[in-house]
Amino acid sequence: MPQLTSVHQTASHIDLTWDDNTRSAFPLFWLRDHAQDDVSWDHRSHQREFFTASADQSMVPEHPHLDDGGDNLIMTWPDQGAPIAYPSSFLYQFARIDVRHTAPQRRWDGQSLPEDELHLNWDELTSDDHVTADGRSRLVNTIHHLGFAVLNNVPTAMASVDAVAKSMGYVRETIFGGLWQFAANEGMDDSAYTPKELRPHTDGTYSHDAPGLQMLLCCAYDAEGGDSIMVDGFAIHDKMRADHPEDAQALAEIAVPGQYIGDGVMLRAERPPFRYGHDGEIAQITFNNYDRAPFRLNDADMARFYKASKTFDTLANDPAMQWRHILNPGQMLVFDNWRILHGRAAFRGQREMAGCYVNREDYESCLRKAGLRS
Ligand SMILES: [Fe+2]
Repeated sequence: MPQLTSVHQTASHIDLTWDDNTRSAFPLFWLRDHAQDDVSWDHRSHQREFFTASADQSMVPEHPHLDDGGDNLIMTWPDQGAPIAYPSSFLYQFARIDVRHTAPQRRWDGQSLPEDELHLNWDELTSDDHVTADGRSRLVNTIHHLGFAVLNNVPTAMASVDAVAKSMGYVRETIFGGLWQFAANEGMDDSAYTPKELRPHTDGTYSHDAPGLQMLLCCAYDAEGGDSIMVDGFAIHDKMRADHPEDAQALAEIAVPGQYIGDGVMLRAERPPFRYGHDGEIAQITFNNYDRAPFRLNDADMARFYKASKTFDTLANDPAMQWRHILNPGQMLVFDNWRILHGRAAFRGQREMAGCYVNREDYESCLRKAGLRS
């Protein structure tokens, strides 16, 4: 971590020089707002005590200087009697304006997916059937890198799904319950409960906060077919940006509604199939043709949507883009529902699955703890 070597105050900024010969300039009021002294900041809760809106935004600090060794920038503000120290490590995090970072993620298709990197063994992740901190770190590394992981030799019980979910956060309650177990069941209102083919899709298009992770554990399989299908939605996005830029733009602009009607609820949400983060990078794929609500745009946009949707769906259903695998009892998929589309080939016979969702913010918390994103 670079150390501070000099400080210079201007009318509007504090200019800092670092021992790696870089410079950074912080606006004065930004520094006041980010003071983490005991009055301005609650160190127990990591919450701001400083009342930003009530402060004079033109206030000027006195006597900015470095302490011995350049570990801290020190200055005194007129609304505070005592000098305030800003650790160099804190300032360096914000030396550049864009401080967000995400560790690289590997895009893949059916050819390039490194199968050997997908698989994790239950025994290596757990101790007494509880996921260890090291196990969680290995799991989230794999999911972040490739979008999903395959856990092998998992005890075929809902408790296994529960253990993985609780290592990440908590089990999300939905209209389907928290932990669920299902076989082909014509009594339910959702297409996931039939033995018909399920084309690749994301879950929760009807939710404003689509599930972050999904887990699917195969508990029993005595059937023909039923291959699980995984597709890298980010790879489809990149391919469309390169080969079909107008279609990609349409999917970035047109908000598509999803709905779930049944089991006593009428859920609905809408967003573009390609949603970007503030950094301009693709952040979330939303695509589920089954759950798309009836909607109507002007004729030109409707045509743009149908054309772009066809391009996307054709790529998602292209076997060259897919990872296909018949799950054996004791195999569990854990996947990023904001990146990966999942599907399942038709099957005949008996197939029992258990699963649940984990919220996005809890998955992202795990990524931060593993040093994979800021
Ligand atoms: Fe699904």
